[in-house]
Amino acid sequence: MTTTEATLFEAFLNQHDSDAWTDTVNRLIPKIHLVDKNATKIWFTFFPLDLAKALQSAENPAELIRKLQLKGNFYLKDQIDSSHIFLYGHRFWPEVKSAIVEQALSNKAPASLELATQISDIASIVAKKLSVDISLVIGITSVAFMTLQQVGITAFKMSPGKVLIDAKVAKKSPETILENRAKDNSQGLIMQFLRTIDKVWTVTFNENDPQCTFKLIDGQDIAMAGASDKRDYKARDPRCVEGPVPVECRSAACGTCWVGVLGGAEKLVPVSSREKKRIREFGYIHTDETHPVIRLACVSSSSGALSIVVPPWNGVFGRHLRKLKEAEKDSQREPSY
Ligand code: FES
Repeated sequence: MTTTEATLFEAFLNQHDSDAWTDTVNRLIPKIHLVDKNATKIWFTFFPLDLAKALQSAENPAELIRKLQLKGNFYLKDQIDSSHIFLYGHRFWPEVKSAIVEQALSNKAPASLELATQISDIASIVAKKLSVDISLVIGITSVAFMTLQQVGITAFKMSPGKVLIDAKVAKKSPETILENRAKDNSQGLIMQFLRTIDKVWTVTFNENDPQCTFKLIDGQDIAMAGASDKRDYKARDPRCVEGPVPVECRSAACGTCWVGVLGGAEKLVPVSSREKKRIREFGYIHTDETHPVIRLACVSSSSGALSIVVPPWNGVFGRHLRKLKEAEKDSQREPSY
């Protein structure tokens, strides 16, 4: 296979900007199994195309990283096989990856030039091969397409493409996972009588590891609850100075503590106008939902158990990316002579 053939598929992908991707994901979400609906939305928020493009095209990436206050591991190319470990579909990653590489390196013209259809077609091939329902494969296939667009075929093909979760965990059915996700703890008979004692809930921050939980006292915010987990997380992620959720300001000012909410979003306090404004300025999400899948842990208190995902990085880039997009649109509007 030649590089030219490989770039044909990439050229097709590169025709899709972040708006086209938003439209594609919105069309695919109804077809995704409940176990991966929120996880897919969260992944696409964790790895925004506009940020990847801004970093790729920056004359001085180090300066841009400083300007956008990026911390942690924000390059998808460094986590091709692991970025989506919180999706149920991660189990099917080797097959999805190899089906996409085969398509990207083939001479065959795609059956459709529509992105959502191509994603569904590849998901269907993999689902048939594995004898699983296609709804379990569409989310991870969407993730794989976007990963290829951001990292390029060479890096995508070179990654080992392994399943990175324990074999026992991988055997769990989607129904079992959904049943246990953010399941409220029984408070026991004594607690029911002693109503003055606060209820205690479990926050799970990695569904693939039973050790990855901490306790949250009813009404506490996620960041404060996480700080009571005194295990050492700093060695794995220097941003984690107190517990598994990175924090700095504790007042919705810095964007460090953003988390994805896989389960239990409805038990969190509704987004305040300040949180909504700040989360948009950071560049994470722009939504009018009262209980979105992305929250700031330091201002999100809960009245029940939760399942969350901690992103591997944080930054402040909303305004910068908006300006870049406006400049791009302006340049497209300028008449050519
Ligand atoms: S710790 Fe700064 S926004 Fe939450």
